[in-house]
Amino acid sequence: MKTDERHSTDERTSRALVQRSHLGPRDLTLTTDHPRPVPGPGEYLIRVGAAGVNFADVMQTRGTYGGGPRAPYVAGFEAAGEIVDVGPGVTEPLPPGTHVVGTGPGAFAQYATVSAAGALPVPDGWSDAEALGMVLNWATALAALKPLGGIEPGETVLVQAAAGGVGQAAVRLARHYGARVVATASPAKHDTVRALGADEVLDGRRPDLAAEITRLTGGVDLVLESVGRTTFATSLAVTKPFTGRVVVFGAASGDATLTTHDLVFAHPVQVKGLHIGTLATAVPALYRSLIAELGTLVADGVYPPGTPVVHPLADGPAVLESLEAGRTSGKHALDPWR
Ligand SMILES: NC(=O)c1ccc[n+]([C@@H]2O[C@H](COP(=O)([O-])OP(=O)(O)OC[C@H]3O[C@@H](n4cnc5c(N)ncnc54)[C@H](OP(=O)(O)O)[C@@H]3O)[C@@H](O)[C@H]2O)c1
Repeated sequence: MKTDERHSTDERTSRALVQRSHLGPRDLTLTTDHPRPVPGPGEYLIRVGAAGVNFADVMQTRGTYGGGPRAPYVAGFEAAGEIVDVGPGVTEPLPPGTHVVGTGPGAFAQYATVSAAGALPVPDGWSDAEALGMVLNWATALAALKPLGGIEPGETVLVQAAAGGVGQAAVRLARHYGARVVATASPAKHDTVRALGADEVLDGRRPDLAAEITRLTGGVDLVLESVGRTTFATSLAVTKPFTGRVVVFGAASGDATLTTHDLVFAHPVQVKGLHIGTLATAVPALYRSLIAELGTLVADGVYPPGTPVVHPLADGPAVLESLEAGRTSGKHALDPWR
């Protein structure tokens, strides 16, 4: 047995975090004898070096993620690690030993399967943990800003929850594409967002948020909306009529509603929905162009290696609880070997 496999009970099992109910992260429990998965068609089996924590993980623990797994299930769906086996039907597979970052069920474990079609090689010189976020946070931010958001230099972009995993990527990218960035975050996270280059940083919970954004900008061209219930009305109110776009890709505070009456009489703006997994499946050429652009951004140093806070696997429930409560900043990850 290798020293770094000290927690694995035998060759066929894997330490894993299993969600046993839909009562939230508190019912996520560590198991040491989960069967090691076998890669199915179109999948790689990877030895997970680091697993990414995402807000969707929280939603899955509560059963509110559309099409999410039903308990019991091994939690997590973003992982980076070394290919150890290749399932049938993978065209032009990367060789075993290659480190990739990708998505697949059961990522909070020592071994997990990821979709080969969506897996990207970890950039040269980057660790597994540093590559987390590439296919979720960064691809989502890029899709929201460019093909959907149609960002142009000189435009004003509002990024809600800007200190988060997607939010930080969005601030960096929006600045790179020449936009003025207005960002919202909890006050304790403002320095982090300013350091990324945001021009204005506001408390997303201040009661006069819409009035203040309108005062500062005269109306924004593009909003990245992922908070939902508590911010959606503000996002609509500050968007320029007709030319302004609101890209909706999450609802961390709960769902918001929008009526035809709203769109016709109150907020005649362009509202667009985004789910990066659905985009990859429904419009693969567009997804490939996003991935190619991410490669250019990495090569140009616009997208630097990630700096996630890496926790031991057993701390997963506490990390998810912090994410759910809005207490985290930036990207968090789990090390299944610690
Ligand atoms: N559609 C897609 O394909 C896709 C892909 C990735 C992520 N997402 C979505 O994008 C959003 C960001 O994901 P992430 O993983 O990067 O999470 P995150 O932004 O790191 O965490 C969520 C943040 O939302 C803010 N927030 C505001 N009100 C909140 C509330 N009532 N409860 C909890 N948080 C609240 C908090 O920041 P403050 O304390 O600063 O307000 C919190 O830190 C999520 O909604 C997620 O579901 C969607």
